[in-house]
Parts: sequence; C-alpha cells; structure tokens
Amino acid sequence: MARENAFPLIAIPLLFGVIVSLFPSVASITGVCYGMIGDNLPSKSDVVHQYQSYGILAMRIYKPDGDTFNALKGTDIDVMVGVPNEELTLYANDASAAASWVQNNILAYDGVSFKYIAVGNEVSGDDANNILPAMSKIWDAICSAGRQDRIMVSTAVRFDVLNNTYPPSNSVFSAPFMGPIVQFLNNTGNPLFANIYPYFAYVGNQGDIPLDYALFTATGTVVSDGQFQYQNLFSAMVDSMYSALEKAGGNNVPVVVSETGWPSYGGVGATVQNAQTYNQNLIRFLNYGTPRVPAYMEGYIFAMFNENQKPGDEVERNFGLFNPNQSPVYPIYFN
Ligand SMILES: *[C@@H]1O[C@H](CO)[C@@H](O)[C@H](O)[C@H]1NC(C)=O
Ligand SMILES: *[C@@H]1O[C@H](CO)[C@@H](O)[C@H](O)[C@H]1NC(C)=O
Repeated sequence: MARENAFPLIAIPLLFGVIVSLFPSVASITGVCYGMIGDNLPSKSDVVHQYQSYGILAMRIYKPDGDTFNALKGTDIDVMVGVPNEELTLYANDASAAASWVQNNILAYDGVSFKYIAVGNEVSGDDANNILPAMSKIWDAICSAGRQDRIMVSTAVRFDVLNNTYPPSNSVFSAPFMGPIVQFLNNTGNPLFANIYPYFAYVGNQGDIPLDYALFTATGTVVSDGQFQYQNLFSAMVDSMYSALEKAGGNNVPVVVSETGWPSYGGVGATVQNAQTYNQNLIRFLNYGTPRVPAYMEGYIFAMFNENQKPGDEVERNFGLFNPNQSPVYPIYFN
C-alpha cells in the first residue's frame, strides 16, 4: 500500500519481550459510524461539531449526504462513505453512472477528507455478484479523477463470509463471491472493510465464549493458535479475516474494521458497563493490532447515536455512544 509509506514503521514490545517489526500500516484512528435512522437526532452540523469536540477523527456514513458533507468541509475528519446496496446493480452495469456517482458525491465536495468508499454494506445473496463490477467501476472513476492515492474503494463484509473460524488460522472464505473480490483488492492496493461484532459472537455462543474474552478483560491467553495467543475475541475475529485473506491470495490486503460495537441495553450482555468496557478497550487496543498483524489498525465504532427507528431487536436501537440529545450514554475518551 504505497500510499501508507508516509507512516513510519513501528515496533511494539510484546508480552514475551520480543520486538516485532511491522507491516506498513494504516494510522491508528478510531472512527464512529454516524447512522441516521432516528427521528430525534441532532442537526448534521451539530453532529460534526460533536465529532470535533470529542476528538473523533473519522466518520462513516452509509450513503452520501450533502448537509453532512457541507458541515464536514474544512474539518480534518476522515470520511468513509457508502454506496447503498440498492444502487449496486446500476453501477455494476454502467460505468458512466459510476463516474457520475463519484462526480456528484465525492468530487463535488472539495474540502471534505474522503478516505474510503464502501461499495455495499453486508451485501449477500445474488446481489453479491454486483459488488465486484460496481466496486471496480467506482475505482476506475476514482483513478480517472486522479484521487487513487487519497481514496480507497472496497466493500464492507459481515463476519459470516468466513467459515471454520476456530481457531483463527483455519478460517476460509465460504462465500464464493469473495475470491475475485480479494484478487481485486490485492491487485489494486485496497483494503477489505469488515464488520466485526464480538457481541453477536458472544450472544450466539455463551457456552464457549467467556464474557471477559469478548470484553477485552481476560487476564491471560484464552485461545492458543500455533504461534498466536489470543486474549480477546476481537483480535481472533480480525485474524480470522487475515487468515482467510492470505489463503485467497490477499497477503497485501489490510483489514479496516468498518463496524464494531456493543449495545448498552436491550439484550443479553447489553449493559452500559459492558458497552463502555468494550468500546473504551477497543479504542486502546486498535493501537496495537492483532497477534497476526501487530500494527496500528483502523476501526469504526457503531454507532454515534442510539437510533430509535432502526428495525430489528431492541439491541439494534441501543448501540449508540450518545443519546439523541447528544449526552453521552457513558463516558468515553478517544485519545
Ligand atoms: C464450512 O466448513 C464445514 C467443515 O469444513 C463444511 O462442512 C461446511 O460445508 C462449510 N460451510 C460452508 C458454508 O462453506
Ligand atoms: C498481490 O499483490 C502483490 C503485490 O501487489 C503481488 O505481488 C501478488 O502477486 C498479488 N497476489 C495475487 C494472488 O494476485
């Protein structure tokens, strides 16, 4: 990833006193996903001010939003913007439509620090066949505009694109659409965006997954995987992605965690205390990376606000770091 050469190689002393020199890495930035599925959320410009006042350096939004982009102009906030799933068929089949999307939503907003374009979020089923052609047409448009050194293009996948994730080194992509996507990402120097939720893994398998392993609070190794020792589930899940990437020819492809988080209410393990513990530890943890890739990594916490109109289980509406009136659900520090 030539564009990351500006960041110095770093070395981190591990527990055993070994010094490991690291990959070129992305900067250690914790972003926050700005979901807007609520009827009581603050104005876009108030939200941007809130990111700034909390020192939140990156924002993910799920589709282009002019008011938000205008509020972001002139700030240093890095932006990941989504191409909505329902538009992928169009761009997959029409390069000029993809170029117009880039023109109208990226190039038209001078002064916004666009960093990532997520072409689709958790796309599954037959629609997944549109990911690669849409992504490559959006990427071509970014390259034609000469922005390929500043803006990366990928898609955000669910953890269940993987199979055999225990232990992490066994992991493979089971979703057949992933192979060609990984080739594309490897060859173009783009990362993979992965939504990684230890919370849902824990809820689905409480018999095998201790809560402290999911919350980054285990005091020793919980899972041993050859040379790699895991003390937290987040790292094990990220390394499952890396292990599958490697097997699919993606040795060069970094993982950017495009969503992670813990709900504060509404289901098993969903308490204010657990949510605070998870998210605060995550912010710290992203500085060190995982056993397999012990380098700074980038992640986006889901989500900025509790969103009262999100469908689904009660927990879905309670992932926010903040209430809609902008008060914190619990104290959280970004640096
Ligand atoms: C996952 O792996 C198991 C065991 O290797 C296999 O039986 C199963 O079919 C795989 N599932 C998918 C969706 O590939
Ligand atoms: C991945 O990219 C690297 C360098 O960009 C290249 O050397 C390697 O052959 C690629 N791997 C595959 C499987 O395409």
